[in-house]
Amino acid sequence: MTQNIELADIGLIGLGVMGINLAKNFAEKGFSVIGHDSSPSHAMNEPAIYVHSQLKDFVRNLAKPRKILFLLPAGQTVEEVIQSLVPYLEPEDLIVDAGNSHFEDTKRRSQELATKKINYLGLGVSGGEDGARNGASFMAGGKPDIFENIKPFLEAAAARDPDNNICAKRLGDAAEVGHFVKMVHNSIEYAEMQLLSEVYSQFAEIKGYNNEDISKAITSWRNELEGSFLSDVTSKILKTIDNLTDAPLIDMIEDIAEQKGTGKWGTVSGIDLGVPAPTLYEGVSSRFISQCKPDRITASKIYRPVLHKNNALSTDTIRRAFLAAKICAYAQGFQLLKIASLKYSWNLKLSDVAEVWKAGCILRGNILNKIVEAFDRKASLTNLLLDTDLSEELKRSIPELRLVVSEAALCGLPLAAHSASLSYFDSFIKSKLPMNIIQAQRDFFGSHGYRRIDRSGTFHTSWED
Ligand code: 6PG
Repeated sequence: MTQNIELADIGLIGLGVMGINLAKNFAEKGFSVIGHDSSPSHAMNEPAIYVHSQLKDFVRNLAKPRKILFLLPAGQTVEEVIQSLVPYLEPEDLIVDAGNSHFEDTKRRSQELATKKINYLGLGVSGGEDGARNGASFMAGGKPDIFENIKPFLEAAAARDPDNNICAKRLGDAAEVGHFVKMVHNSIEYAEMQLLSEVYSQFAEIKGYNNEDISKAITSWRNELEGSFLSDVTSKILKTIDNLTDAPLIDMIEDIAEQKGTGKWGTVSGIDLGVPAPTLYEGVSSRFISQCKPDRITASKIYRPVLHKNNALSTDTIRRAFLAAKICAYAQGFQLLKIASLKYSWNLKLSDVAEVWKAGCILRGNILNKIVEAFDRKASLTNLLLDTDLSEELKRSIPELRLVVSEAALCGLPLAAHSASLSYFDSFIKSKLPMNIIQAQRDFFGSHGYRRIDRSGTFHTSWED
């Protein structure tokens, strides 16, 4: 009994920035926390959190059923840690993968571990270092009785939205559902980041604003529907001065962006599930094209692009165009969640997803209130573009998006994500698309058959007879 009192409530493996901050957050909320790191010397300088270098000692010092949280890089590392950990575990122990693992890996791992009666669930965690330390958004999967074991920890460490709701939720019975939701969160994150980078380029390159003025313009809409954590971040970045050169720091940063994979996975899932998500794709593709720097430099010498400044676009037009493009990006992300939920029988409640993103996570922003309202109005909504309120918003802002995309095209400014949103919108609202041509082409060269508008069945034509 004495021994039990000393056993820790929870153990963390993966003591990088996220792990350390989450451990501190749990400890501050009154939980006894231990960590595992094979080289604890660089792990944690926190007396309340003991770091075991031996996995065996780490496991022995946890109260049963053990709760072990991984904050590890996705992929092979997770695989290896599971292999080394499992021999020390017992039935009913719980592993929570709080990294950005691919949902299919989480599904497979939970099934494999279930044969040993070890519980496993995937947990999407958003909010970066600050979220881990001061309140993150937690997206969990797993059966209710399994989730109960980790729930008190997550609820204590989660962010709270302005109405004091806790941003930690179990979103479905499947172990992998939290990781799928986090993956879509990241796809939307990529898209919103790209849209904001395009807002920046419109101000800088079409209107000729300096960084400080762009920052002010973005700050001015912080309380509007467009306002979000990411727009605040962008506005703060634009005000930051480089302490090495005294120049605006943004002007000293290379124009090549990397990614770790989650946004790409979201796009791939969209393709796998037949969900159109062009703005989410552009969030990824724009990073890829940025990486073609040597070719871009060569091409710029061949084509010598000249950007025509044009002050006709007002700040308000840029803002409203951004809003329209952003609503389309969220519509794509939520449709992806909807279709995945149907396909995998997850029974995902989309208003819960929007609720859990209202605070703590990278997507937090005013638009989420509207999205919660939309799904509260109609839980079965298939696409946010069909919502009564958001559609009114789009009717007002789409003309501005049209203006921005056409002006940018004439000026020679790439607006990949804005353009993708506009095409998505225009296709989505058209009751007739030129797919009769596609059907006919497929039948012409591949005898795939086509469906007619005036009678049922599949038809084939010998087109060249
Ligand atoms: C979050 C973020 C985070 C993600 C980074 C980096 O919600 O806190 O989504 O989980 O890992 O944003 O992503 P990329 O390196 O792929 O841009």
